[in-house]
Amino acid sequence: MSATHLPHPPADHREFPFSDRDFRRVCQMIHGRAGIALAPAKRDMVYGRLSRRLRTLGLADFGAYLDLLDADAHGAEWQAFTNALTTNLTAFFREPHHFERLDAQLRETGTHGGTIRLWSCAASTGEEPYSMAITACEAFGTLTPPVRIRSHRHRHQVLATAQRGVYSVERIADLDTETRRRYFQRGTGPNEGRCRVNPALQALIEFRPLNLLESRYDVGGPFTALFCRNVMIYFDKPTQRGILSRLVTQMDSASLLYTGHSENYLHAADLIQPCGRTLYRRNPAVRA
Ligand SMILES: C[S@@+](CC[C@H](N)C(=O)[O-])C[C@H]1O[C@@H](n2cnc3c(N)ncnc32)[C@H](O)[C@@H]1O
Repeated sequence: MSATHLPHPPADHREFPFSDRDFRRVCQMIHGRAGIALAPAKRDMVYGRLSRRLRTLGLADFGAYLDLLDADAHGAEWQAFTNALTTNLTAFFREPHHFERLDAQLRETGTHGGTIRLWSCAASTGEEPYSMAITACEAFGTLTPPVRIRSHRHRHQVLATAQRGVYSVERIADLDTETRRRYFQRGTGPNEGRCRVNPALQALIEFRPLNLLESRYDVGGPFTALFCRNVMIYFDKPTQRGILSRLVTQMDSASLLYTGHSENYLHAADLIQPCGRTLYRRNPAVRA
């Protein structure tokens, strides 16, 4: 086979050396920072995305780049590192503190208000809405909690992955045994290495397409909890403001907006106000 037919350049033809140790360090660092567990199969992706950072910074190798990050836990490069690696990535129970807060919110809301509506507005391949569904089942102690979850993914993204609810077992390796047993079925035979979410979770979720740049959202709010995480990083501030002005139309005074680890909306305090770690409420001055 000629070199042009190889899917990836062989390691020794790469611009920067990238050792097992470098990859392990990257995995530990991004897991600590963003809760993303990178599978070994993501090694080429990691190389591709981070080598751009090395080039931009004029560094000779990954060791120097990772040392630079290690040397300053609050350095600006962490943002670029996290964004480079997490674009389009997601994970079950990513940013676990959000699911603890959601659990508390669901228990506080209880069953008095009828069906509780939740929204995952940029759900990617579905791990986020399924994590919300599992949280609801645990909060109410049943596979049929009084919860409906709207889950939107970008119009360009294939619908099937989230809706089918089939994942590689690596995706759930970090979950505790009981969660895996209750909410996932392991494939056997030709489906070895894969798992399927419990159909009871799928029954709680409606999957739809949505482009957040659309001028109005017809999504069925207000929602008790809105998850809009790790998507605003793609947009400039005026675009973020436009999206937030539409998101608040889906909120009431009790709604909580859950945002990503690196998203900050101090520039939109007239629309939403911080009320916890990466959590916001609608500004009371915003008219319903
Ligand atoms: C990094 S993933 C975040 C997934 C999940 N919210 C999480 O935090 O794990 C970003 C998602 O935003 C979606 N996205 C990007 N631009 C979008 C847009 N204009 N409208 C809706 N979704 C968009 C991408 O398709 C991707 O699924």
